Amino acid sequence: MRFEVVTLFPEMFAALTDYGISSRAIKQGLVSLSCLNPREFTTDKHRTVDDKPYGGGPGMLMKTEPLVAAITAAKARLQKAGPESGAGTGQQAKTIYLSPQGKPLNQAAIEQMAQGSDLILVCGRYQGIDTRVIDSVIDEEWSLGDFVLSGGELAAMALIDALIRLQPGALGDDDSALQDSFSGGLLHWPEYTRPSDFAGATVPEVLLSGDHKAIAQWREQQSLGATWLKRPDLLNRKNLSTKQRELLDEFINEYNLADGDQNESPPGKFRSECDEQEQDH
Ligand SMILES: C[S@@+](CC[C@H](N)C(=O)[O-])C[C@H]1O[C@@H](n2cnc3c(N)ncnc32)[C@H](O)[C@@H]1O
Repeated sequence: MRFEVVTLFPEMFAALTDYGISSRAIKQGLVSLSCLNPREFTTDKHRTVDDKPYGGGPGMLMKTEPLVAAITAAKARLQKAGPESGAGTGQQAKTIYLSPQGKPLNQAAIEQMAQGSDLILVCGRYQGIDTRVIDSVIDEEWSLGDFVLSGGELAAMALIDALIRLQPGALGDDDSALQDSFSGGLLHWPEYTRPSDFAGATVPEVLLSGDHKAIAQWREQQSLGATWLKRPDLLNRKNLSTKQRELLDEFINEYNLADGDQNESPPGKFRSECDEQEQDH
Protein backbone atom coordinates (compact mmCIF):
# COMPACT_ATOMS: atom_id res chain seq x y z
CA MET A 1 0.00 0.00 0.00
CA ARG A 2 1.36 3.45 -0.88
CA PHE A 3 0.61 6.71 0.92
CA GLU A 4 1.10 10.16 -0.57
CA VAL A 5 0.48 12.89 2.01
CA VAL A 6 -0.28 16.47 1.05
CA THR A 7 0.89 18.56 4.00
CA LEU A 8 2.45 21.89 4.92
CA PHE A 9 4.44 20.04 7.60
CA PRO A 10 6.12 16.98 6.06
CA GLU A 11 8.64 16.85 8.92
CA MET A 12 5.88 15.70 11.27
CA PHE A 13 5.72 12.39 9.41
CA ALA A 14 9.11 11.41 10.85
CA ALA A 15 6.96 10.09 13.72
CA LEU A 16 5.97 7.31 11.30
CA THR A 17 9.07 6.95 9.14
CA ASP A 18 11.57 6.93 12.02
CA TYR A 19 9.88 5.00 14.81
CA GLY A 20 8.55 1.55 15.60
CA ILE A 21 6.38 -0.74 13.53
CA SER A 22 5.60 1.84 10.82
CA SER A 23 9.29 2.64 10.30
CA ARG A 24 10.12 -1.06 9.97
CA ALA A 25 7.27 -1.67 7.50
CA ILE A 26 8.49 1.22 5.34
CA LYS A 27 12.09 -0.01 5.43
CA GLN A 28 10.92 -3.52 4.49
CA GLY A 29 9.02 -2.09 1.50
CA LEU A 30 5.63 -3.34 2.78
CA VAL A 31 4.29 0.20 2.41
CA SER A 32 5.66 3.46 1.06
CA LEU A 33 5.11 6.93 2.42
CA SER A 34 6.01 10.25 0.84
CA CYS A 35 4.87 13.83 1.30
CA LEU A 36 4.12 16.71 -1.03
CA ASN A 37 4.16 20.23 0.34
CA PRO A 38 1.78 22.72 -1.33
CA ARG A 39 4.43 25.37 -0.60
CA GLU A 40 6.55 23.74 -3.29
CA PHE A 41 3.74 24.45 -5.77
CA THR A 42 3.38 28.18 -5.12
CA THR A 43 4.24 30.67 -7.85
CA ASP A 44 4.54 33.95 -5.92
CA LYS A 45 7.73 35.23 -4.36
CA HIS A 46 6.40 34.87 -0.78
CA ARG A 47 5.39 31.25 -1.42
CA THR A 48 1.94 31.95 0.00
CA VAL A 49 -0.09 28.93 1.16
CA ASP A 50 -3.04 30.67 2.87
CA ASP A 51 -5.79 32.99 1.72
CA LYS A 52 -8.73 34.92 3.20
CA PRO A 53 -12.21 33.38 3.24
CA TYR A 54 -14.84 35.06 1.06
CA GLY A 55 -17.42 36.76 3.28
CA GLY A 56 -14.82 37.74 5.88
CA GLY A 57 -14.46 36.43 9.41
CA PRO A 58 -11.56 35.18 11.50
CA GLY A 59 -8.88 32.84 10.20
CA MET A 60 -7.52 31.87 6.84
CA LEU A 61 -8.01 28.97 4.46
CA MET A 62 -5.43 26.96 2.56
CA LYS A 63 -4.69 28.65 -0.74
CA THR A 64 -6.43 26.69 -3.45
CA GLU A 65 -4.04 26.56 -6.41
CA PRO A 66 -0.94 25.19 -4.63
CA LEU A 67 -3.11 22.70 -2.73
CA VAL A 68 -4.74 21.34 -5.88
CA ALA A 69 -1.40 21.31 -7.71
CA ALA A 70 0.09 19.20 -4.89
CA ILE A 71 -2.86 16.76 -4.97
CA THR A 72 -2.56 16.49 -8.78
CA ALA A 73 1.16 15.82 -8.46
CA ALA A 74 0.49 13.13 -5.85
CA LYS A 75 -1.95 11.40 -8.23
CA ALA A 76 0.55 11.64 -11.10
CA ARG A 77 3.32 10.23 -8.93
CA LEU A 78 1.27 7.16 -8.04
CA GLN A 79 0.22 6.64 -11.67
CA LYS A 80 3.76 7.08 -12.95
CA ALA A 81 5.16 4.63 -10.42
CA GLY A 82 2.54 2.16 -11.70
CA PRO A 83 0.39 -0.20 -9.69
CA GLU A 84 2.95 -2.96 -10.01
CA SER A 85 5.72 -0.93 -8.36
CA GLY A 86 6.79 -1.57 -4.80
CA ALA A 87 4.01 -1.67 -2.29
CA GLY A 88 1.26 -0.58 -4.73
CA THR A 89 -2.17 -2.22 -4.56
CA GLY A 90 -2.96 -2.07 -8.28
CA GLN A 91 -6.20 -0.12 -7.74
CA GLN A 92 -6.68 3.55 -8.56
CA ALA A 93 -5.64 5.70 -5.60
CA LYS A 94 -8.34 7.26 -3.43
CA THR A 95 -8.03 10.86 -2.20
CA ILE A 96 -9.01 11.36 1.43
CA TYR A 97 -9.41 14.67 3.24
CA LEU A 98 -8.90 14.41 7.01
CA SER A 99 -11.63 16.60 8.43
CA PRO A 100 -13.71 16.99 11.60
CA GLN A 101 -16.71 16.89 9.25
CA GLY A 102 -15.81 13.44 7.89
CA LYS A 103 -17.17 10.04 8.89
CA PRO A 104 -15.67 9.01 12.25
CA LEU A 105 -12.87 6.48 11.73
CA ASN A 106 -13.20 3.10 13.38
CA GLN A 107 -11.52 -0.29 13.09
CA ALA A 108 -14.13 -1.66 10.66
CA ALA A 109 -13.53 1.25 8.25
CA ILE A 110 -9.78 0.83 8.61
CA GLU A 111 -9.97 -2.92 7.93
CA GLN A 112 -11.88 -2.15 4.72
CA MET A 113 -9.41 0.57 3.67
CA ALA A 114 -6.48 -1.76 4.32
CA GLN A 115 -7.86 -4.08 1.60
CA GLY A 116 -8.30 -1.22 -0.85
CA SER A 117 -6.37 1.23 -2.98
CA ASP A 118 -3.31 3.38 -2.41
CA LEU A 119 -4.21 6.60 -0.60
CA ILE A 120 -3.59 10.30 -1.05
CA LEU A 121 -4.16 11.98 2.32
CA VAL A 122 -4.88 15.69 2.34
CA CYS A 123 -4.07 17.48 5.61
CA GLY A 124 -5.91 20.74 6.17
CA ARG A 125 -4.50 23.68 8.15
CA TYR A 126 -5.89 27.07 9.22
CA GLN A 127 -9.71 26.98 8.95
CA GLY A 128 -9.54 24.21 6.35
CA ILE A 129 -9.90 24.13 2.56
CA ASP A 130 -12.20 25.56 -0.12
CA THR A 131 -15.41 23.52 -0.46
CA ARG A 132 -14.98 23.35 -4.23
CA VAL A 133 -11.73 21.45 -3.73
CA ILE A 134 -13.61 18.92 -1.57
CA ASP A 135 -16.31 18.60 -4.24
CA SER A 136 -13.91 18.21 -7.14
CA VAL A 137 -10.88 16.24 -6.00
CA ILE A 138 -11.70 14.56 -2.68
CA ASP A 139 -13.22 11.05 -2.75
CA GLU A 140 -13.87 10.64 0.98
CA GLU A 141 -13.73 12.71 4.18
CA TRP A 142 -12.73 10.95 7.42
CA SER A 143 -12.56 12.29 10.95
CA LEU A 144 -10.50 11.20 13.95
CA GLY A 145 -13.42 12.05 16.25
CA ASP A 146 -15.77 14.78 17.33
CA PHE A 147 -13.14 17.32 18.29
CA VAL A 148 -11.09 19.84 16.36
CA LEU A 149 -7.36 19.51 15.73
CA SER A 150 -5.13 22.31 14.45
CA GLY A 151 -4.27 20.33 11.34
CA GLY A 152 -4.94 17.06 9.53
CA GLU A 153 -1.42 15.70 10.07
CA LEU A 154 -2.07 13.91 13.39
CA ALA A 155 -5.26 12.41 11.94
CA ALA A 156 -3.44 11.27 8.79
CA MET A 157 -0.68 9.75 10.90
CA ALA A 158 -3.18 7.91 13.10
CA LEU A 159 -4.91 6.53 9.99
CA ILE A 160 -1.66 5.48 8.30
CA ASP A 161 -0.37 3.83 11.47
CA ALA A 162 -3.61 1.86 11.92
CA LEU A 163 -3.48 0.78 8.24
CA ILE A 164 0.16 -0.28 8.45
CA ARG A 165 -0.60 -2.58 11.41
CA LEU A 166 -2.99 -4.51 9.14
CA GLN A 167 -0.50 -5.03 6.27
CA PRO A 168 0.67 -8.65 6.13
CA GLY A 169 4.16 -8.90 7.64
CA ALA A 170 4.03 -5.54 9.44
CA LEU A 171 3.64 -7.03 12.92
CA GLY A 172 5.95 -9.66 14.36
CA ASP A 173 2.95 -12.00 14.34
CA ASP A 174 0.09 -11.21 11.91
CA ASP A 175 -2.38 -12.85 14.33
CA SER A 176 -1.75 -10.20 16.96
CA ALA A 177 -3.84 -7.66 14.99
CA LEU A 178 -6.72 -10.16 15.11
CA GLN A 179 -6.57 -10.07 18.91
CA ASP A 180 -6.60 -6.28 19.14
CA SER A 181 -9.58 -4.45 20.58
CA PHE A 182 -12.43 -3.96 18.06
CA SER A 183 -11.16 -6.46 15.50
CA GLY A 184 -13.77 -9.04 16.58
CA GLY A 185 -16.17 -6.36 17.82
CA LEU A 186 -14.95 -6.71 21.43
CA LEU A 187 -12.28 -5.13 23.62
CA HIS A 188 -9.04 -6.98 24.32
CA TRP A 189 -8.87 -9.01 27.55
CA PRO A 190 -6.83 -7.78 30.57
CA GLU A 191 -3.11 -8.59 30.30
CA TYR A 192 -0.48 -9.21 32.97
CA THR A 193 3.31 -9.34 32.96
CA ARG A 194 5.94 -9.97 35.65
CA PRO A 195 6.05 -9.78 38.63
CA SER A 196 3.27 -12.26 39.37
CA ASP A 197 2.64 -10.38 42.62
CA PHE A 198 2.57 -6.61 42.12
CA ALA A 199 2.00 -4.70 45.37
CA GLY A 200 -0.21 -7.53 46.62
CA ALA A 201 -2.22 -7.84 43.39
CA THR A 202 -1.67 -11.26 41.89
CA VAL A 203 -2.02 -12.70 38.38
CA PRO A 204 -5.14 -14.88 37.82
CA GLU A 205 -4.25 -18.52 38.54
CA VAL A 206 -5.43 -19.75 35.14
CA LEU A 207 -2.73 -17.74 33.34
CA LEU A 208 -0.05 -19.59 35.29
CA SER A 209 -1.67 -23.01 34.70
CA GLY A 210 -0.22 -23.76 31.26
CA ASP A 211 -3.70 -25.06 30.25
CA HIS A 212 -4.10 -23.38 26.84
CA LYS A 213 -7.76 -24.28 26.44
CA ALA A 214 -8.64 -22.85 29.86
CA ILE A 215 -6.56 -19.73 29.13
CA ALA A 216 -8.33 -19.19 25.78
CA GLN A 217 -11.74 -19.50 27.45
CA TRP A 218 -10.75 -17.16 30.29
CA ARG A 219 -9.52 -14.60 27.77
CA GLU A 220 -12.73 -14.78 25.76
CA GLN A 221 -14.80 -14.32 28.90
CA GLN A 222 -12.65 -11.40 30.10
CA SER A 223 -12.87 -9.82 26.67
CA LEU A 224 -16.68 -10.03 26.81
CA GLY A 225 -16.62 -8.74 30.40
CA ALA A 226 -14.31 -5.81 29.62
CA THR A 227 -16.59 -4.84 26.73
CA TRP A 228 -19.67 -5.09 28.96
CA LEU A 229 -18.00 -2.93 31.60
CA LYS A 230 -16.36 -0.30 29.40
CA ARG A 231 -18.14 -0.26 26.04
CA PRO A 232 -21.59 -1.88 26.28
CA ASP A 233 -22.52 -0.05 23.08
CA LEU A 234 -20.22 -2.47 21.21
CA LEU A 235 -22.08 -5.47 22.67
CA ASN A 236 -25.39 -4.07 21.44
CA ARG A 237 -24.04 -4.19 17.90
CA LYS A 238 -22.65 -7.71 18.16
CA ASN A 239 -24.43 -11.06 17.79
CA LEU A 240 -23.08 -13.23 20.59
CA SER A 241 -23.00 -17.00 20.20
CA THR A 242 -24.81 -19.08 22.86
CA LYS A 243 -21.43 -19.95 24.35
CA GLN A 244 -20.37 -16.30 24.49
CA ARG A 245 -23.71 -15.35 26.11
CA GLU A 246 -23.11 -18.01 28.79
CA LEU A 247 -19.57 -16.77 29.41
CA LEU A 248 -20.78 -13.18 29.70
CA ASP A 249 -23.66 -14.12 32.05
CA GLU A 250 -21.18 -15.94 34.27
CA PHE A 251 -18.89 -12.88 34.23
CA ILE A 252 -21.78 -10.60 35.16
CA ASN A 253 -22.88 -12.90 38.01
CA GLU A 254 -19.35 -13.02 39.41
CA TYR A 255 -19.00 -9.27 39.03
CA ASN A 256 -22.27 -8.71 40.89
CA LEU A 257 -21.25 -11.09 43.69
CA ALA A 258 -17.95 -9.25 44.13
CA ASP A 259 -19.70 -5.89 43.89
CA GLY A 260 -22.53 -6.88 46.25
CA ASP A 261 -24.96 -5.26 43.83
CA GLN A 262 -27.25 -6.60 41.10
CA ASN A 263 -26.28 -5.04 37.78
CA GLU A 264 -28.06 -6.10 34.64
CA SER A 265 -26.26 -3.35 32.85
CA PRO A 266 -22.72 -2.23 33.51
CA PRO A 267 -21.91 0.06 36.43
CA GLY A 268 -23.02 3.69 36.27
CA LYS A 269 -19.67 5.20 35.38
CA PHE A 270 -19.62 3.41 32.06
CA ARG A 271 -23.36 3.13 31.53
CA SER A 272 -23.99 6.85 31.46
CA GLU A 273 -21.20 7.51 28.94
CA CYS A 274 -22.35 4.72 26.69
CA ASP A 275 -26.01 5.68 26.87
CA GLU A 276 -24.96 9.12 25.68
CA GLN A 277 -23.03 7.55 22.79
CA GLU A 278 -26.06 5.47 21.84
CA GLN A 279 -28.30 8.53 21.85
CA ASP A 280 -25.87 10.35 19.57
CA HIS A 281 -26.21 7.68 16.86
C1 LIG B 1 -8.68 23.97 12.71
S1 LIG B 1 -9.16 22.67 11.66
C2 LIG B 1 -10.45 23.39 10.72
C3 LIG B 1 -11.79 23.14 11.31
C4 LIG B 1 -12.94 23.71 10.47
N1 LIG B 1 -12.94 25.13 10.53
C5 LIG B 1 -14.26 23.18 11.00
O1 LIG B 1 -14.76 23.73 11.96
O2 LIG B 1 -14.77 22.19 10.46
C6 LIG B 1 -7.84 22.56 10.52
C7 LIG B 1 -7.67 21.19 9.88
O3 LIG B 1 -7.44 20.22 10.86
C8 LIG B 1 -7.90 18.97 10.40
N2 LIG B 1 -8.77 18.42 11.46
C9 LIG B 1 -9.28 19.07 12.51
N3 LIG B 1 -10.01 18.29 13.28
C10 LIG B 1 -9.98 17.06 12.71
C11 LIG B 1 -10.56 15.81 13.04
N4 LIG B 1 -11.34 15.65 14.10
N5 LIG B 1 -10.32 14.77 12.22
C12 LIG B 1 -9.53 14.90 11.13
N6 LIG B 1 -8.96 16.07 10.77
C13 LIG B 1 -9.17 17.13 11.55
C14 LIG B 1 -8.59 19.19 9.08
O4 LIG B 1 -7.73 18.79 8.04
C15 LIG B 1 -8.83 20.68 9.07
O5 LIG B 1 -8.84 21.22 7.79
